[in-house]
Amino acid sequence: MKIESLIRENIRNLAPYSTARDEYSGNLGIYLDANENPFDSGINRYPDPHQRSLKERLAQIKGVSPSMIFTGNGSDEAIDLMFRIFCTPSVDEAISIAPTYGMYKVAAAINDVKLVEVALDEDFALSAAKILEAVTAQTKLVFLCSPNNPSGNLLSGSDIERVLREFHGIVVLDEAYIDFAAQGSSFLSKIVDYENLVVLQTLSKAWGMAGIRLGLAFASELIISTMNRVKYPYNINVLTNRVALENLYSIDSQLTVIVSERERLRQEFSKFDFIKTVFPSDANFLLIKVEEPRKLYDRLIDRGVIVRDRSRIAGCEGCLRVTVGTPEENSKLLEILGDYQ
Ligand SMILES: Cc1ncc(COP(=O)(O)O)c(C=O)c1O
Repeated sequence: MKIESLIRENIRNLAPYSTARDEYSGNLGIYLDANENPFDSGINRYPDPHQRSLKERLAQIKGVSPSMIFTGNGSDEAIDLMFRIFCTPSVDEAISIAPTYGMYKVAAAINDVKLVEVALDEDFALSAAKILEAVTAQTKLVFLCSPNNPSGNLLSGSDIERVLREFHGIVVLDEAYIDFAAQGSSFLSKIVDYENLVVLQTLSKAWGMAGIRLGLAFASELIISTMNRVKYPYNINVLTNRVALENLYSIDSQLTVIVSERERLRQEFSKFDFIKTVFPSDANFLLIKVEEPRKLYDRLIDRGVIVRDRSRIAGCEGCLRVTVGTPEENSKLLEILGDYQ
């Protein structure tokens, strides 16, 4: 498979914007080249368009080369870039699993790309065969999400690999929740084996930095350098960069609490007879099926607890999605559920 030939011709031929910092990147001197305000406030200068120090830190943490890392304004920037780089509007197609994270569909619609949704099996399992059957000559992208939102489960590794091997296009594997899953579940190390694999991760979940908007993509140097050529030059601002660097240390203690609280909630939820199913979760949320989702949702709102009503999504009928909170928040939720009938 030639990845180069999957890239839209206008993107292959793109001459990217060259910033002042691209033309001179030394760090000593009097900068009169970028039309900035010269008075130092800590934010008067443009950020590094290549996010070098951030990528070095991420490379250490993730064990991949900085040249295989893209940093974006949330995962959504990387998702949008996939369409802009690989899909000709109103010609090419993409596939996603269903149910899944809603942004793939929105980004496809914005880019005028047909998105074919392939239903997961009853227990939210991935069938590589079904994905491959949906592929047409126009299919450029397949979006998989593992652990999947809103179902919470990891997708089967062997089915993901089959899609990677047999689909001659780009496989975007969204691992936003991977830190909550068992170690060894990530496909990150496989970016060196599969040149068509793009792994998405984020600082918004386990790393606790949803507010700074920092999404990560990992892929071959060809794909990452193409993403860098297409992105806005200064897509990561000075504040996001700084806060990320200050906070990219261990997440283990919070992770341990969240995972053990997930298990506590799972066990406690199954004791309530109005909760029909608690789906297995490898993420920081639980999908539950109840008889009257709206009634329970409203009752929780009345008591000050907001969960996500997913009951109108195909495949999630009757389902609410509950994020794992702090131990105190979870105890309060359980107390309120105990009062519900
Ligand atoms: C599967 C998945 N991917 C990505 C995101 C968004 O991540 P970010 O905050 O990096 O844009 C979410 C957010 O809910 C998600 O569920």
